[in-house]
Amino acid sequence: MDRVKGKIALVTGGADGIGAATARLLAAEGATVVVTDINEAGAKALGAELGGMGIAHDAGSEADWHAAIAAVKDRYGRLDVLVNNAGIGAGIGDIEHQTLEDYHKVMRVTCDSVFIGSKCAIELMKGQGSAMAGGGSIVNVSSIHGIKAAAHEAAYSAAKGAVRLLTKSVALHCARNGYRIRSNSVHPGYILTTQMIAWMERADNSADVRAALLTQHPIGFLGQPEDIANGILYLASEESRFMTGSELVIDGGYTL
Ligand SMILES: NC(=O)c1ccc[n+]([C@@H]2O[C@H](COP(=O)([O-])OP(=O)(O)OC[C@H]3O[C@@H](n4cnc5c(N)ncnc54)[C@H](O)[C@@H]3O)[C@@H](O)[C@H]2O)c1
Repeated sequence: MDRVKGKIALVTGGADGIGAATARLLAAEGATVVVTDINEAGAKALGAELGGMGIAHDAGSEADWHAAIAAVKDRYGRLDVLVNNAGIGAGIGDIEHQTLEDYHKVMRVTCDSVFIGSKCAIELMKGQGSAMAGGGSIVNVSSIHGIKAAAHEAAYSAAKGAVRLLTKSVALHCARNGYRIRSNSVHPGYILTTQMIAWMERADNSADVRAALLTQHPIGFLGQPEDIANGILYLASEESRFMTGSELVIDGGYTL
């Protein structure tokens, strides 16, 4: 309990999946949570349920970011934790079959969102830290495919790889400027979110798809959203105060 007590946290793509599990856990551990999502009703419902707020927010839109950060500043005056969770694939697409349009769509929501979000958060977070307490923590949800490429997901691999190094660039910049803002990435293996389960069930050979995924995770099972939320909580809290630019891989051994 109380591992992030008193902190103001914003979670993008927070209405469902890993983002929703993270919002719930941060709130349970004492944070005031701002849930943002392109799904306005979902964001508002969960934000209210958790005693925080919900905001309609397309994470790839710079205008939406300015509006969301302004709303947080108005209501709470500060931001301690930003979880850049929103990200999309665009179906299966290798380099020969994925269109440039799909590539731009994936990059916009998955990577541009982290760039703009980090920029906006730093503006608000810098100056609110002290030598003993962190000024802020930015946690970016990348993927195993930010470390190990997927042939069938060219754009997604590119976007998640970019998030991995963008995280480190931000970490270095903040450290060198004495901002006390940490920036770390999280790399989930396959997680049983509603969308992931629906995707597996849609496949003609659904049992084979699940079996193939299981063999890629040496631990012998697929993850739950809470497995990733636990890692994000750690990076959001002061327990990880000496970590910046790090990669937290939570993947059942997929990348080994
Ligand atoms: N589920 C997995 O197996 C897995 C594995 C590795 C990495 N990830 C990453 O974790 C993050 C969350 O994944 P998930 O599976 O929980 O997601 P999800 O598909 O369940 O979607 C979560 C939320 O994102 C919202 N969203 C979609 N587009 C958005 C946009 N433009 N702006 C704001 N919100 C938007 C959706 O409305 C939804 O509520 C993503 O970055 C994803 O790439 C997921």
